[in-house]
Amino acid sequence: MCGIVGYTGTQNAAPVLLEGLKKLEYRGYDSAGIAVLNDGRISISKVTGRIAGLAEKTEDGRLLPGVTGIGHTRWATHGAPTEPNAHPHTSNDGRFAVVHNGIIENYMELREELTRKGYHFESETDTEVVVHLVEMYYQDNLKQAVMRTAARLRGSYALGIICADEPEKIFAVREASPLILGVGIGENYFASDVTALVAHTRNAIYLEDGEFAELTPDSITVFDCTGHIIQKRVSRITWDIQAAEKGGYDHFMLKEIMEQPRAVKATMAPRIKGSEIVLDGVDIDLKQINKIMITACGSAYYAGCAAKYAIEKLCRVPVITELASELRYSDPLIDEHTLLIVLSQSGETADTIAAMRECQRRGAKTLAIVNVVGSTIAKIADWCLYTWAGPEIAVATTKGYTTQLTVLYLFALYAAKKVETVDDSTWRKLLSALKALPKQIQQALDMNPGISQLAKKYHSTCSMFFIGRNTDYAVALEGALKMKEISYIHAESYAAGELKHGTIALICEGQPVIALCCNDSVSEKTMSNIVEVKARGAEVLAVAFRDNARIVSLADDMLYIPKIDPLFSAAVEIVPLQILAYHVAKENGCDIDKPKNLAKSVTVE
Ligand code: G6P
Repeated sequence: MCGIVGYTGTQNAAPVLLEGLKKLEYRGYDSAGIAVLNDGRISISKVTGRIAGLAEKTEDGRLLPGVTGIGHTRWATHGAPTEPNAHPHTSNDGRFAVVHNGIIENYMELREELTRKGYHFESETDTEVVVHLVEMYYQDNLKQAVMRTAARLRGSYALGIICADEPEKIFAVREASPLILGVGIGENYFASDVTALVAHTRNAIYLEDGEFAELTPDSITVFDCTGHIIQKRVSRITWDIQAAEKGGYDHFMLKEIMEQPRAVKATMAPRIKGSEIVLDGVDIDLKQINKIMITACGSAYYAGCAAKYAIEKLCRVPVITELASELRYSDPLIDEHTLLIVLSQSGETADTIAAMRECQRRGAKTLAIVNVVGSTIAKIADWCLYTWAGPEIAVATTKGYTTQLTVLYLFALYAAKKVETVDDSTWRKLLSALKALPKQIQQALDMNPGISQLAKKYHSTCSMFFIGRNTDYAVALEGALKMKEISYIHAESYAAGELKHGTIALICEGQPVIALCCNDSVSEKTMSNIVEVKARGAEVLAVAFRDNARIVSLADDMLYIPKIDPLFSAAVEIVPLQILAYHVAKENGCDIDKPKNLAKSVTVE
């Protein structure tokens, strides 16, 4: 998600920054910019689109002379990908410039405070508050101003800061966003990841959360958040560039699977304020809504299928899920009392856009849940809630799906409060359950080594069944899709109770069946289905809670997930299935990040 770079030394900074930003391109971005300090003034250049455009605009950096600078590639979150929203952002007096990775969760409060104090804002970003805070706190000491600014920020941030009055200095601040310092000779660097550093140096200092650093050409000083100097170890970067882009993982898919706790937290945390859920800009008159329709394609559709249970249970309103490619031609029963929820990672899926337009034509109100800011679906919806998953590069979605679920769960709780269908104490209990998701997803991720062993057992099959009931069935749909997409193994999801109506005829000796059994209200029933398939020779891998003692005696292999309310369990339950699909595909030598015949964004019908 975005990238930042910084340089202070004796070379012209701009070409070094441009080259560093190029190395970060793989992270995904939609605009870019650099700021260079020269002769007591800061010059800025920004573009929407590619780094190549920025290089052209600055004549490969020659138009911005100076030996100190910061740069940024932006992947839009707060505000569309426009030049004013691109970083670096500057203070009103032009003496400070800031680049930022991450999300400032309390930016709305800070923006109001700063506006009251007379600072004016040029962008819609959360970042701009940072540069005005630095200006406000600056009293001839940038270190103090940076420290006081960081103390006001909530959220995740890797910041790069320069000041016209303190030449040759760059400050780097880290809280819950990656930031690495590159140690050179007579020149120093920072960057979001090592790919931007290795061309210059393999000596690095890894900043920890709450630390910040002052870099000059000849020194790097690291401080804790109270301003005390900390001694840091210089590490040797041994990764090759390709591995570095993937954060050390073999594939983007695995990297993105592992990012889920952070992505879910980034999506959820800013929307939970104390014991309230705040969905910015959403002012749907829910009492006028008598039907919710969810539409999407692929995994986004399955996220809708899983969340349907939570919305119906909590809000007592019928929820119909419909594939966008079907909905668009189905003459749907929709009117102005229908809320259409549209899910899309890319925001550009052609079928989803067409279904949405058709429903809008019939009077439906539309709420989009989208990852890519400024995309078509985000723009044409009446309301939009962004998932803050960061760019997803692997074709098969993982963090896109879990963050969509997160927004839908937030919406279910938010709406239940509005329409008063849940009592206060249940509501609070559910909110706590929701807040625990990032930690529980992390616990599920910790099963990775065990699952890679299981993949060795299951990878050579030519077909798999995924069974479950209720919410478990919804997870089975996505689990089977993941397996198909990347391993090319035929995988069929089935409502466990339906097996006896046909599919059970296909169960024979050694047939792998993945049984999802995490919904207590139906787990006894699913276990009966496990007995039925076992009796016909199936090899059963069950996903369940540890307190389910009986299932251990039925299944051949077990994957335990942490105990969670079934209403929200899909976001955790899917994780071992994503990992299983990944390792099965890896065992089979498949092209995991770019599976054959598939595209990340399907912009044709
Ligand atoms: C493609 C992708 C899937 C995705 C689907 C919908 O098929 O490969 O991973 O779920 O499109 O995409 P969207 O961007 O609308 O979520």
